Amino acid sequence: MISGTTTASAAGTWTLGDRSVNRLGFGAMRLTGTGGMGRGDDRDPEQSAAVVRRAVELGVNHIDTAGFYFSATGRANAIIRAALAPYPDDLTIVTKVGPGRDLGTGDWGDWVRPEELRAHVEHNLETLGLETLQVVNYRSNGRDDVAAAVAALASLRDEGLLRHVGLSNVGVGSLAAAREVTEIVCVQNRHAPGYERSDAGDLLAVCREHGIAFVPFFTIAGQSREGAAAEGYDVVESIAAAYDATPAQVRIAWTLSLGEHVLAIPGTGDVGHLEQNIAAASLRLADDDLSALAALTSE
Ligand SMILES: NC(=O)c1ccc[n+]([C@@H]2O[C@H](COP(=O)([O-])OP(=O)(O)OC[C@H]3O[C@@H](n4cnc5c(N)ncnc54)[C@H](OP(=O)(O)O)[C@@H]3O)[C@@H](O)[C@H]2O)c1
Repeated sequence: MISGTTTASAAGTWTLGDRSVNRLGFGAMRLTGTGGMGRGDDRDPEQSAAVVRRAVELGVNHIDTAGFYFSATGRANAIIRAALAPYPDDLTIVTKVGPGRDLGTGDWGDWVRPEELRAHVEHNLETLGLETLQVVNYRSNGRDDVAAAVAALASLRDEGLLRHVGLSNVGVGSLAAAREVTEIVCVQNRHAPGYERSDAGDLLAVCREHGIAFVPFFTIAGQSREGAAAEGYDVVESIAAAYDATPAQVRIAWTLSLGEHVLAIPGTGDVGHLEQNIAAASLRLADDDLSALAALTSE
């Protein structure tokens, strides 16, 4: 089993905006429940706070979160704040806005309009207890005006509410349109062996060319969106056995192999899973194994 004393720094670093982060980070969606947004089974906030503290102890200095990650038992931002504030100087918290979830009731409605983004940014500032957000991603639904949303975030950045703008769930065209408006520091899309967007290769290349971080989600969960991915399971499991690793560790190592600009943010509400995921920072897969995993993505 790959575990023990490995810390997130074993994956190397990337400059996100203007801050150095370890390429192995943490996604906060699972802190409030197994489904993360009031779906699945709710989780105990104190146990989740222990997960966040352990992540930072093990070198994580890049946490992805959102104001709309909450359940009946807790809110991801409040859990992060309770666990870590006053925050370590080197910690970069990235948040996201766009999905139309009522931040009080939790009801789902229309996507957030550009003029409404301020309230969602302010909600993140308040719940995280920060004066400025390091990075705010605009999470597109694929049918919206990404350039208008990014312009609204750029205006909030110019006012000092945030420092850098990122994007999520976008293709090459939307990224290019957004870059006409302002600098984009990261793109967060679903990306896993056997579960990637059809334009993933192009997007990875464009991000590499322009020094934009590519930040995959659902790397472990894949299409199932919860628990271990089913697609390519036999291939992943047999590679994992050869390295005395777990399938989740193999999936994370594959993610990190995609380029220096790729940042992993595996999500979990379980300390044991967290420790395994961080240990994957030191797992290097042979080219044959990386090719077998890449072949899954193109099937
Ligand atoms: N921009 C977007 O639209 C978007 C969408 C989704 C997620 N995200 C962000 O990306 C992060 C990562 O995505 P994700 O959390 O959805 O999916 P993920 O990291 O691919 O996988 C999380 C799932 O895998 C399980 N898991 C984690 N570590 C495991 C391990 N070592 N062994 C077995 N199972 C394990 C988790 O359950 P346990 O909790 O029980 O470990 C959870 O069900 C999120 O936390 C969130 O911050 C962004």
